[in-house]
Amino acid sequence: MADVQVRSAESPVPAAEADEIAALVDAATAADGVGPLSEASRLWLRNGGGAARGLVLRENGENGEPGNDGELVAYAHFDPATEEESAAGELVVHPDKRRRGHGRTLLRALLTEANGPFRVWAHGDLPAAAALAEAEGMERVRALFQMRRPAADPLPDMKVADGVALRTFRVGQDEDAWLEVNRRAFADHPEQGAWTITDVLQRENERWFDPRGLFLAESERDGNLLGFHWTKIHPDGFGEVYVVGVDPASQGLGLGRTLTLAGLRFLQSKGVPQILLYVDESNVSAVKLYESLGFTRHAVDVMYGASTDA
Ligand SMILES: CC(C)(COP(=O)(O)OP(=O)(O)OC[C@H]1O[C@@H](n2cnc3c(N)ncnc32)[C@H](O)[C@@H]1OP(=O)(O)O)[C@@H](O)C(=O)NCCC(=O)NCCS
Repeated sequence: MADVQVRSAESPVPAAEADEIAALVDAATAADGVGPLSEASRLWLRNGGGAARGLVLRENGENGEPGNDGELVAYAHFDPATEEESAAGELVVHPDKRRRGHGRTLLRALLTEANGPFRVWAHGDLPAAAALAEAEGMERVRALFQMRRPAADPLPDMKVADGVALRTFRVGQDEDAWLEVNRRAFADHPEQGAWTITDVLQRENERWFDPRGLFLAESERDGNLLGFHWTKIHPDGFGEVYVVGVDPASQGLGLGRTLTLAGLRFLQSKGVPQILLYVDESNVSAVKLYESLGFTRHAVDVMYGASTDA
């Protein structure tokens, strides 16, 4: 039986070890059809920084001397808890080295690091990840879908409800009303609903920001803002349904559909090849709306959680 050692990588990870980890990640991506690490974890691997840590698991081999570096067979990324969020991580075992207990060893090492509530992100909703998480008593907490549609596919006609007018965002005028509707629409999703004026201004300063792609629905009677659709065009040319929000008092009038269509038409007119969006699996009505507009599931990330102390 091979010896196994788990240790923290230096930060930043030395280039030679980062290359080994990258090769492991590539092998897993080829075998699983989905990458095991988020963009943020891959960036950390190249640049280090912050409070994150990398854990490497090496096999010393039959004749390996304890303490010597052996073959890298598994890797985990760890983000310690912050004031807002519990600790989180990701892990991957080389496809040729699975079902030997390495995944379990590394997951337990992550739980020890967390020393409290912990979340692990599994990309792709793979059966092995679900089985490992379940075997370690973790529960599926949430799943995030990435949905896509080819931008050029035909779109249905757009109907605007009586008494509602559509227009685009006016920088310097619409921020406060937008924040209020965003707060009300996302009262149950603090990562979106708790945005402040700073969050909006930061985005207005981004190169991708275009007020002509931020659609507002307002009441013709009193000019009150009822809902919005903020679109985004990424540097690689992809379009995104960035945020759609409808005030709870105005939900059920078809405004979500109208606003989504207005944004999709805008993105289509800009010639983007694909349009993507992220939506929580539990947001059944939004998933249905996007499916009815031709979006299909492209990728899914699943979060498993452990609430007990390690
Ligand atoms: C998920 C992953 C980390 C498992 O690694 P591993 O080293 O093969 O897992 P282990 O050998 O430690 O398995 C521990 C237990 O998990 C369960 N398990 C793991 N893989 C399984 C599979 N393919 N089918 C059924 N059960 C499985 C079993 O209960 C297993 O115990 P057992 O071998 O005594 O039956 C690995 O498949 C992987 O790297 N997948 C891609 C990345 C990923 O999905 N990461 C998220 C992890 S939550």
